[in-house]
Amino acid sequence: MSKPIQVSASILCADFTKLGEEIKKCEDAGVDMLHVDVMDGHFVPNISIGALIVEAIRPLTKLPIESHLMIEKPGDYIDAFADAGADIISIHVECYGQRREGCREYGQYPKEIDAIDVEAARKDVLRIKEKGKRAFMVINPGTPLCLGDLVKDIDGVLMMSVNPGFSKQKFMPVALGKIQELRKVFDGDISIDGGVNAETSPQAVEAGVNILATASYFFGAEDPAKVVTYLKGLQPVH
Ligand code: DX5
Ligand code: ZN
Repeated sequence: MSKPIQVSASILCADFTKLGEEIKKCEDAGVDMLHVDVMDGHFVPNISIGALIVEAIRPLTKLPIESHLMIEKPGDYIDAFADAGADIISIHVECYGQRREGCREYGQYPKEIDAIDVEAARKDVLRIKEKGKRAFMVINPGTPLCLGDLVKDIDGVLMMSVNPGFSKQKFMPVALGKIQELRKVFDGDISIDGGVNAETSPQAVEAGVNILATASYFFGAEDPAKVVTYLKGLQPVH
């Protein structure tokens, strides 16, 4: 049975002077969940927002909140984001493995690995679940599908289709092959993040995603409800 397509709105492109109204806009437009992009200026070359914002928006909505942790030591912050009210905690595979030469040092991006330390990642995945939350692993465009055994423990995979750090970047099709490959062996949620728009979303759905994360396409739209209707109307083939 194919899963219905869901839309996750990344508040990175929301107007932070009126976050409450922006969340209401997401709800009114029919968005299925909120995506909070957390950046530490180390794992990615940008600093954004933290658990404080998750805590602030939690009472405003019943929509599930995903915390996408683009931070060096996600394990140290699982409790903080869980306690702030996140429903999904998404952690990068690149935090659990030997970084490729060329991206090991401070200031070298994007962070990429060739193989994951499954046990180290599993420890944090299990912590997320102990806190009663759903655990997603995130994979950067240049990192291969390297989840191995971990697919049995996780609830979802967030496939990056841009190098993380900024919104409004160009979609990287390298994500599509990994999604196809993953969908053959994984029944959980597969989400795509970065450069989602009218042209790229059908390709992502065809490859096997069931969650489309979007910041600029949604928040930049004149009619955000139309965007959501379009995305949710895409036909899953799986
Ligand atoms: C990138 C973030 C994305 C970003 C998407 O580092 O993880 O969630 O907000 O932005 P758009 O949809 O504009 O590519
Ligand atoms: Zn994100």
